[in-house]
Amino acid sequence: MGLRDECAAGDGCMLRWDCGHSGLRGTGASTELWVTSSANYRIVTMSFVEYGDTIKDGDTAIVFLGHESMFPVKVQHGTVTQTKYGVIRHSTDLIGKKYGSKVTCSKGGWVFILHPTPELWTMNLPHRTQILYSTDISIITMMLELKPGSIVCESGTGSGSLSHALIRTVAPTGHLYTVEFHQQRAEKAREEFREHGVEHLVTVTNQDVCKNGFGVSNIADAVFLDIPSPWEAIGHAKSALKAEGGRICSFSPCIEQVQRTCLAMEEYGFTEINTLEILLRVYNVKTISLQIPDLGKAAEDNSSTGFDSSNPSHQGSPCANLQQGTVQFKSGVPLREVVGHTGYLTFATKSLV
Ligand SMILES: C[S@@+](CC[C@H](N)C(=O)[O-])C[C@H]1O[C@@H](n2cnc3c(N)ncnc32)[C@H](O)[C@@H]1O
Repeated sequence: MGLRDECAAGDGCMLRWDCGHSGLRGTGASTELWVTSSANYRIVTMSFVEYGDTIKDGDTAIVFLGHESMFPVKVQHGTVTQTKYGVIRHSTDLIGKKYGSKVTCSKGGWVFILHPTPELWTMNLPHRTQILYSTDISIITMMLELKPGSIVCESGTGSGSLSHALIRTVAPTGHLYTVEFHQQRAEKAREEFREHGVEHLVTVTNQDVCKNGFGVSNIADAVFLDIPSPWEAIGHAKSALKAEGGRICSFSPCIEQVQRTCLAMEEYGFTEINTLEILLRVYNVKTISLQIPDLGKAAEDNSSTGFDSSNPSHQGSPCANLQQGTVQFKSGVPLREVVGHTGYLTFATKSLV
């Protein structure tokens, strides 16, 4: 269950936030910088796989205005960024400051500047295609059994949402081979990987995966497909996987695509074929006020149950407001709009025999 108070950073209220693998954690009043991958802080150039302490010229940073309001900026000397709280001047407000800093904008409101993570990038990236989101990505990473050092083949690259997560998972010794047949998308993905300091971990190939495969054979621990006709790429996926075996996943929005993909997987000798649909239900923690129905003589009932509203130890309990006719308590409330179907994830194994 996620804990979110309803506020925006610039409102000056307490911020509760817990998202991603590096950056800022805690409340607006007392913040704490943390790193998952390394016990020691090191000053490194911003990278999506390694934490850098200080904001530098050329970095991609995330401007956090509130829970539903963030955007990425490319940090550049002499540049300004407009926000609803006023202007952020990169030279004076960003460069040299620590990631996680609270930056006051020209109109007096404030924002947080966050170190980028694959999760924040997925929430903020420029969409060139439909993308995969963190709910599906987390299951894909686990079910493909990915870890540092894994070799992964992916197609298509699309907007690079999944690619960034895969790269972070296989770093520092693994590699992602990603195939995209749309030339501009392939070039844009290369450019973003370079800007995000991860180009040494990924090879982008501009070709049709169904006709020409992944450009590698017998090296992959896992293959991931997010293309309209995945069944046409299953043979190439099998060739890309290591001779001793590996895992495959195919994402498709429609069940007819899933059926054809499962048949192709079976035909190519894949085993353990499983299709999952992952649905996420997020809860907000809120203070709820309920009116107490008038059930008669509250004072007498209190004395018979031992409740004494003048007793300090009873104050603050749900019963404390009984005489005012309302009771307040904290409860988890599901969001009014819940993300529904994204797609089906079909997993299978290439085994030795
Ligand atoms: C839905 S997008 C992938 C989104 C990606 N998973 C992400 O999270 O950003 C599908 C991509 O596959 C590419 N594509 C479709 N068929 C392809 C094929 N046969 N070979 C290579 N790429 C293909 C499309 O150009 C498109 O960019």
